[in-house]
Amino acid sequence: MPWIGSVKEAKRAASSWFNMASLPPLQLAVLCLLLALAGRLRAEPCNAVYWGQNGYEGGLREACATGYYKYVLVAFLNQFGGGQIPQMNLAGHCDPNSGGCTYLSGDIISCQQDYNVKVMLSLGGAIGSYGLASQEDAREVATYIWNNFLGGSSSNRPLGNAVLNGVDLDIESGGRAHYDDLVRYLKAYSTAEKKVYLSAAPQCPFPDAHLQPAIDTGLLDYVWVQFYNNYCMYSSSNADTFKRTWNQWVSVNVSKVFLGLIASPNAGNGFVLPETLINNVLPIVKRSKKYGGIMIWSRHYDVITHFSAALKGHVCPDDLSFASSMRIKQLTVI
Ligand SMILES: *[C@@H]1O[C@H](CO)[C@@H](O)[C@H](O)[C@H]1NC(C)=O
Repeated sequence: MPWIGSVKEAKRAASSWFNMASLPPLQLAVLCLLLALAGRLRAEPCNAVYWGQNGYEGGLREACATGYYKYVLVAFLNQFGGGQIPQMNLAGHCDPNSGGCTYLSGDIISCQQDYNVKVMLSLGGAIGSYGLASQEDAREVATYIWNNFLGGSSSNRPLGNAVLNGVDLDIESGGRAHYDDLVRYLKAYSTAEKKVYLSAAPQCPFPDAHLQPAIDTGLLDYVWVQFYNNYCMYSSSNADTFKRTWNQWVSVNVSKVFLGLIASPNAGNGFVLPETLINNVLPIVKRSKKYGGIMIWSRHYDVITHFSAALKGHVCPDDLSFASSMRIKQLTVI
């Protein structure tokens, strides 16, 4: 039992609070399992982070090994659609379009297996040439992604043979057309054994100009809403607008909504200090059942400002408070 330090303590706790020995074995087993599970879930991070757009941010495996992230979004596939040859951009890390990034397969597999991080391919970004011309175009892009990044096969996989966990949409230009089709085609590849996770990073004004039809399919697992560079970002004088916009986002048909943040004032407008987040902002968003955690732009800025480190222990939803309060009781009631 993970929460009991010694036999003596165990006996004390058991005899004083309630007698564990008198519980039927099955109930006791279920209780142990729940508490073990609660401990495990609580130890896991609830941050998503964008990696790939700065050559000085360190490696992918290194990002995963920090333990700060549950999702790493590899950014970006920034050319696709309209008959173009799809291309990735990974800034100074390596050149994905000449086979220079296949070494990342080892990092991706290590992230997944050693650190329990989901690694997703992010489409779009602020700079690129992308857009879907038709439903057929969406189908072709989905097929390309499946064969080159997910469970399919191709002789030319930009990140090598590692199978990514899913696809993220950070669509900021090129129109909104047919991303709902793209989502449906990608979802069709998902199976019970090997789920294809889908997410999107809309900007906070609701509804999103580029992603709303894709989000409204109800097929996305996560949306990480960019609460920066816009009128809806948090500041002490803008708390009401922030709150109202957040509530619009948690009303969409998606299982988890994440608060998207910049990790540095140099990353854009709307940087919020970790202390302010902990005291004023996270308590607001944690009231929503759909709150899943935070998204951070980007790994590069996080390295510089230690943003994730400052927020550690404050980000995850509080939904297991019953189990954890029980655990405290066991130790302290004499
Ligand atoms: C959410 O989307 C799913 C998948 O399309 C659909 O089955 C479900 O009915 C939707 N739920 C609501 C409340 O619209």
